[in-house]
Amino acid sequence: MTENIMEKLVALCKRRGFIFPGSELYGGLNGTWDLGPVGVLLANNVKREWWKSIVEKRDDVVGLDSSILHSPRVWEASGHVASFTDPLMECKVCHERFRADHVKQIEEHAKTHKEKEVWTDVKQFNLMFKTYVGPIDNDENKTYLRPETAQGIFINFANVVSTSRVKIPFGIAQIGKGFRNEITTGNFLFRVREFEMMELEFFVKPGTDKEWHEKWKAERLAWYLALGINKSNIKMIDLPKEDIAHYSKGTSEVWYKWPFMDWGELEGIANRGDYDLSQHAKHSGKDLSYFDQEKNEKFVPYVIEPSVGVGRAMLAFLIDAYAEEEKRVVLKLHPKLAPYKVAVFPLLANKPELVKKASEVYADLRSAIPTTWDDRGNIGKRYLYQDEIGTPWCVTVDFDTLNDEAVTVRDRDTTKQERIKIDTLAEYFKEKLQ
Ligand code: GAP
Repeated sequence: MTENIMEKLVALCKRRGFIFPGSELYGGLNGTWDLGPVGVLLANNVKREWWKSIVEKRDDVVGLDSSILHSPRVWEASGHVASFTDPLMECKVCHERFRADHVKQIEEHAKTHKEKEVWTDVKQFNLMFKTYVGPIDNDENKTYLRPETAQGIFINFANVVSTSRVKIPFGIAQIGKGFRNEITTGNFLFRVREFEMMELEFFVKPGTDKEWHEKWKAERLAWYLALGINKSNIKMIDLPKEDIAHYSKGTSEVWYKWPFMDWGELEGIANRGDYDLSQHAKHSGKDLSYFDQEKNEKFVPYVIEPSVGVGRAMLAFLIDAYAEEEKRVVLKLHPKLAPYKVAVFPLLANKPELVKKASEVYADLRSAIPTTWDDRGNIGKRYLYQDEIGTPWCVTVDFDTLNDEAVTVRDRDTTKQERIKIDTLAEYFKEKLQ
């Protein structure tokens, strides 16, 4: 796959209402994207599948939805004020700023000037967006938009332990917005300044952390494979010590084979040790240790953290699903992720008897599974449209339907068609979606 594929995917996402450039009407706002009608359905499905596998299907993880704004003391304690930085270099000629570790970009940019020495010294740039709480814009009221949802979990650790029946090992999961004032953005949804994150903080007894780290690595890789990511495009790697974040005792990453950079991070799975709870205990003066009543032991738990951006996951699913065939472009999204599972068409939009029957089929199916309606253009065009938004099955109501109470079901991937009785349709699709 080449970068050309990215251009085509970005165009498809715009054309079909998945993703629009943020603030496009006013010339755009760098590093922001808006989800359109089918994009929001895809994002919801990604989040739903994550929540199902991390929270609903387990009895050792509970959910949380903390505020985006925290006391600035949270970010001092977490180390983000001091250390959530990227190395920045500025071009002395045109004053454009770059990440010093993005070597390829730096080299490319230097070639655009004839001067030999174009770079300033490297300085550390803090990625947190600053804001003010209340009507007075001064340092006392300054805080930050959260750059990760994780801290909202750590500062509620004691609340969750004292109000629910959790026992270590257990996790707290959260999905929510994160904000990072990235030095450079790019590659569509890959690196943006505002994005949703899906994060799990899994609290374990020190000494069992390595074992749990391995379990979560396996669990997370299996999640992507079960949702259709091609095995040859995904792998797990352990980061070398010099590449890990300030809080980490060891980080692994799920890597995806991106068309624009070859292998690179899709998801991080860090062993945060007891760094965060210890820091918050120290800075707040509150005891954040855990008491194991059965063993009569007190300890500060270690934390294993799988963390992924919704947009970055969507991008991997979209790239993986994108296929160009002789006569069509098709998004072979896993049915669980597809915005709509079924599209219903009347063969001809100007035949009231067909429209009436198709409307009945549509209403029935819609109450059971996410279904859409299309009566524009001819059948061929409707198939092409549904292929491009990844709808796995199309149902056509034709003149025979009026006699035999059956419809034609066309499969997105094989394009094969079969006749199915209307009264078994909902069951037919539900079984396929299992
Ligand atoms: N709490 C851990 C944490 O924040 P991270 O590796 O900095 O770790 C986690 O971020 C995940 O969030 C990444 O693996 C990636 O999927 C996503 N992510 C991070 N920065 C992003 C950005 N600027 N744009 C889109 N997604 C981003």
